[in-house]
Amino acid sequence: MSNYQIIDHCYDVIVVGAGGAGLRATFGMAEKGLTTACITKVFPTRSHTVAAQGGISAALGNMGADSWQWHMYDTVKGSDWLGDQDAIEYMCREAAPAIIELEHYGVPFSRTEDGRIYQRPFGGMTTNFGEGIAQRTCAAADRTGHAILHTLYQQSLKHKAEFFIEYFALDLIMDEEGICRGVIALNMAEGTIHRFRAQMTILATGGYGKAYFSATSAHTCTGDGNAMVLRAGLPLQDLEFVQFHPTGIYGSGCLITEGARGEGGFLTNSSGERFMERYAPSAKDLASRDVVSRAMTIEIRDGRGVGEHADHIYLHLEHLGAEVIEERLPGITESAKIFANVDVTKQPIPVLPTVHYNMGGIPTNYHGEVIKLNPEDNTETIVPGLMAIGECACVSVHGANRLGSNSLLDIIVFGRAAAKRCVKLIKHGITQKPLPKEAGDVAIARLDKLRYAKGNIGTAQIRLQMQRTMQAHAAVFRSGESLTEGAKKIAQVFNSFSDVKVTDYSLIWNTDLLETLELDNLLGQAVVTMNSALHRTESRGGHAREDYPKRDDENWLKHTLAWLDDKGQVTFNYRPVHMYTLTDEIQVIPPKPRVY
Ligand code: FUM
Repeated sequence: MSNYQIIDHCYDVIVVGAGGAGLRATFGMAEKGLTTACITKVFPTRSHTVAAQGGISAALGNMGADSWQWHMYDTVKGSDWLGDQDAIEYMCREAAPAIIELEHYGVPFSRTEDGRIYQRPFGGMTTNFGEGIAQRTCAAADRTGHAILHTLYQQSLKHKAEFFIEYFALDLIMDEEGICRGVIALNMAEGTIHRFRAQMTILATGGYGKAYFSATSAHTCTGDGNAMVLRAGLPLQDLEFVQFHPTGIYGSGCLITEGARGEGGFLTNSSGERFMERYAPSAKDLASRDVVSRAMTIEIRDGRGVGEHADHIYLHLEHLGAEVIEERLPGITESAKIFANVDVTKQPIPVLPTVHYNMGGIPTNYHGEVIKLNPEDNTETIVPGLMAIGECACVSVHGANRLGSNSLLDIIVFGRAAAKRCVKLIKHGITQKPLPKEAGDVAIARLDKLRYAKGNIGTAQIRLQMQRTMQAHAAVFRSGESLTEGAKKIAQVFNSFSDVKVTDYSLIWNTDLLETLELDNLLGQAVVTMNSALHRTESRGGHAREDYPKRDDENWLKHTLAWLDDKGQVTFNYRPVHMYTLTDEIQVIPPKPRVY
């Protein structure tokens, strides 16, 4: 039993994370009368959704013919056939109603001349099952995430959801039957410890981009929910699939939206050549992200990069004209000025593929319920009391590669789906069993261990080693050799954490301790990512193995499930991809070669 005084709370549902997924779920439940607490380590409108730029996909057909079946086809193809087709059908079918709801909640979308939601082209989004270019991505200029996040927070307040802001969730509370009973968290401002008990715990904690050196992710993207799941002895799925966004600003990694290419921007190499025409003759600069990132990397490797060190690529917007740029791309105009000192109306932006998104995460079904394998017969079962939504979840709608603008869609559709599921499953106010006496003790022991850690290596030093290792060894291209070396190095970094030094033991705004907790979370995911990538001996979507350059459906059309023990050892099992649909309004889309 710990020496801390513990403050207990009880709700019907708790949501960890206040990005788009967390907030959409939170107010969806609050509006139906479930007592809902949202726990978040940052102020809700600072969650990373705020940084999403280009838009949210839905076959509204405002700018030309479109259908959810075409959207589904594109998403399955974009996923390189690793996406679960039941979940993809659900997401693409629910996209239109979910976005019309957003419009009614007050999201200030950009408009067409006749007042409809403006939609722009995005990579891999086509009409007629791959034949034409679709205008499917609904945009609020290039600040769509900002517009959505603020609206969702207002809706949450309107429906009287309760917020626990600047609380750092430490761990899940699991009982002896494997049921999730809540979470334990640290109030960062007061240094108090809180146990939240609920009928359902929903993780909406985002991705873990900060495992890498150069990422478009915020400093807060440390995969805290994923790490809690690993510590609870549950697996993560498909972590080898890490998305590199083609256009991070060279040097800073700051995002330049794919919407810039959607509006007509293009990439050139040192000869001024529009090289994407060689790699993706029909979609060109609007091929899917994995294809464009690989093409850029090859150009640079083959000596056709631009700049003093020939180590990046140019993105041109100058030809679009100041008026279009001002109306459609005001945010990136500002970012390019601040981070690259470029006036986009006159000069190209120096860009480089940059870590942007984790396709892998906590395995769930399309209701958001966390799934695991039944040890007896390897069938899927549900982890009672636990859900995951948004980037931390692997539903899996993105498979091996996510299409741009399907991420904002994922958070809205599955945040909404989780709320609907809870409203169906949960009875408001039923008496919940008391928590086990020792609930949270292991988490507090870990907190204490780190709080008083008096080793020799600073947190920032270990973090840098981790980020450099991931950047060098689990990059756009990987090989058995680089991953084997990477797995050795990341194991050393993981082990060095036992010698970490935390400079202050206060629990109140101790940023050194908080960053150490985040690093602890990141390290486990870095180890799993590297080893999962080493394990998968094929190339698929964002996982490009130079030693296994082909997709291998015979052996690898399956999801990786990976468990991590406290020594840093990873074990694997596999789960079949769902090759079935929910209705007969669309047939299963069979695997075929993926060309753009
Ligand atoms: O390029 C972008 O605006 C990013 C969108 C996304 O990742 O979905």
